[in-house]
Formats: sequence, structure tokens, C-alpha cells
Amino acid sequence: MLILAIESSCDETAASVIEGRAERVQILSNVISSQIEIHKKYGGVIPEVAAREHVRNIIPVINEALLQAGIKPGEASKRLSAIAVTAGPGLMTALSVGAQTAKSLSCAWKLPLIATNHIAGHIYANWITKSISNLPAGGHGFQFPISKQITKIQFPIVILTVSGGHNMLVLMKDHLDYEIIGDTLDDAAGEAFDKGAKMLELGYPGGPAVAASAASITDDQLSITNSVSKLPRPMISSANFNFSFSGLKTALLYALKKDKSWRKKIPAYAAEYQQAIIDTLIAKTIKAAKKYSAKTVLLAGGVSANKELRSQLAQAVSEKLPQALFGLPDLKYTTDNAAMIGAAAYFLAREKHWDSWRSLKINPNLDLK
Ligand code: KG4
Ligand code: ZN
Repeated sequence: MLILAIESSCDETAASVIEGRAERVQILSNVISSQIEIHKKYGGVIPEVAAREHVRNIIPVINEALLQAGIKPGEASKRLSAIAVTAGPGLMTALSVGAQTAKSLSCAWKLPLIATNHIAGHIYANWITKSISNLPAGGHGFQFPISKQITKIQFPIVILTVSGGHNMLVLMKDHLDYEIIGDTLDDAAGEAFDKGAKMLELGYPGGPAVAASAASITDDQLSITNSVSKLPRPMISSANFNFSFSGLKTALLYALKKDKSWRKKIPAYAAEYQQAIIDTLIAKTIKAAKKYSAKTVLLAGGVSANKELRSQLAQAVSEKLPQALFGLPDLKYTTDNAAMIGAAAYFLAREKHWDSWRSLKINPNLDLK
């Protein structure tokens, strides 16, 4: 089944053609037009600016995705089975551009629509690649042995899904069956990275900037990490699976205020801040996976691009849950893209969750269900 997928919920205009077969999703094209350079000067995404950029880019991006998949625009109605589009959560005006474009194409090409949840997309990015493996213990920077990769993800699954807009632990007992077992009480991890980066004057987007600064500490400089005060690991020992990152952000602010020479130790602060976020995310994920007897642990969302989080979670699962499988999306499918929307849409299509250009609705606060 060939699906054209469209994503425009935030600041990436993206289109992809995917092919779903049994439990796998193959990517025929994955085109992303990023607005990062435009929003950088404002230090964050300006919704009106994002929407205007989506309007400018969406048709060329879709056209390119079709061409890269070997589909000429005139053939799309015959070759494709459906059009998937992100219906939420996201910025209202940004979502509208993708949805209206998808509706127009669906009407013109007489193809069904599949309204897809953005967070479900992040989760289903894990079905794109063969990244599941039963991992032996390893150090930081652990690489997955290709020979250990398996093709079938086994339920029940606990997924840590973390990005700029959401921060959840999700239990899936089957496809499309989502139970949110943990959520953030305030900021999401990606938001915490972004705000921390601002305080450390590392720029936007914050996650990659904090990660790069932390990674710039060489082995012979490791002692500088001890030169900064320890930050809290909020709620790490609480009885539930919820998160809270606003206290960590405030703790960093006070630590910087107290330290007159903090600008000389930015990588050390970045490393400690990143590690505080990672420690909390990993502790809760392992606890949840144990409680729900997860056969697989997955990582998803923009923050899953963080290499330390990827390798430290892999290591924690292999040490603390030796029977469990662990998987994460390829780096190119971690931050916003349309391939992941196509992947989730394929599993919706298998269950006949069809929409049409008349019925499709967007919802900026769409729940994961
Ligand atoms: O999924 P995404 O592209 O957009 C949302 O759905 O929010 O996630 C973007 C978030 C941003 O907050 C960004 O700082 C964070 O993911 N992020 C990272 C890294 N790359 C992106 N956070 C930590 N380390 C990274 N390497
Ligand atoms: Zn996202």
C-alpha cells in the first residue's frame, strides 16, 4: 500500500511516500523543508511566520516527494492508495496548511484521507527501521550490532516519547492502542533543553546545541564537569511515572546567577543539565517497563535524536531488563518528518480508519488515543 504523507504541525514542511507491508514500513521518499534558520532569529517558532512558510513550501515539497518516489504528478491518483496528514497536536495555522492541501489533493485525486496524530507518528517511526535488538551491555556511544536486529516489535511496549511539545510514557498492548501512563506536569524535555540552551547562550534549537556543547568536553577535561554544582533530578523517585522539568530550569538559572565565571564552564553546565534530564527520563522508563512487564522498550520524538539519551537508555535496558527488546528510530526520523506520519497512517489504514476531504478535522490539542 503506497501512502503520500504530509506533516506541517510546527516548523517543518514535510512530505513522504511510504510503502507499508505486513509489520514493516519502507520509505520511498522523505522530503523536509526546515524553517529553523527563519525562526532562529526569534529564538522560537512564530506561528504566523511558520504558516506562511508552509504555504510557500508545501506544493514544491509534495511534488519533490512524489518525484523522488518515482511517481509523476499525473500518475498519483492511480499509484497511491491514500493521503495521510497530521491532524494534531500542533499549531492551528500550521496544521491547517497541511490539512487543506491534503483535502484538495484528496478531492482532486479521489483518494481517501488518513487523519494522523503527530505523537503516534513519532512512535511509529520505530516501525520504519529495523532498529530493534536485544542489546548486550555497553558503554556510552554504544552502537547497535546489525546482526542482532530483529524485524518484529513485540507487545506490550513501553515508549518514552519526548519532544518539544510533549513528554510521555506510553503503554501499547497492541497496534494503535495507547495508554498514557506518564506525562509532564509542566515543561517537556525538549522545551527544557531549549530553555536551558537559552540560559547558557547556546542558541536555538536548544537540544542539539546543549548536546554539542556537552560533547565538546574532551576526556582530559572531564574534571571540569565536577567544577559545577549538581542540578536536581526532579521527581526521579516519585511513585508515579510523571515528569517535571521546570524546577530543573530554575535550578540552572540560580546556579548560573551564583557562579560569576559560568561563561568559562558552559560545556560543564550543558553536560550536567543534559544528564539531569536523561537520568530522570531513563529512571522512569525502566520503572514503567518493569511494572508493565514490557517486552519492548522504544524511544521516540525529537529528543530521541540525543545521542547520550539513545546510548544510555540502550545500556539501561540491556542491564536492567535483560529480557526486553530495545528500539529507536533512525536519526533522520527522530525530529519532525512526514515518513513517520506515513508509518502511523499505514497501521491506521490496515484497520480502515479512513477519513475524507469532507470529514477530516484538525485539532491543535488532539489526544493520543
Ligand atoms: O519532535 P520535534 O521535532 O518537534 C516537536 O514535536 O516538538 O522535537 C523538537 C525538540 C526540540 O525541543 C529540540 O530541542 C529537541 O527536540 N531536540 C533535541 C535534540 N534534537 C532535537 N533535544 C536533545 N538533543 C538533541 N540532539
Ligand atoms: Zn514532533
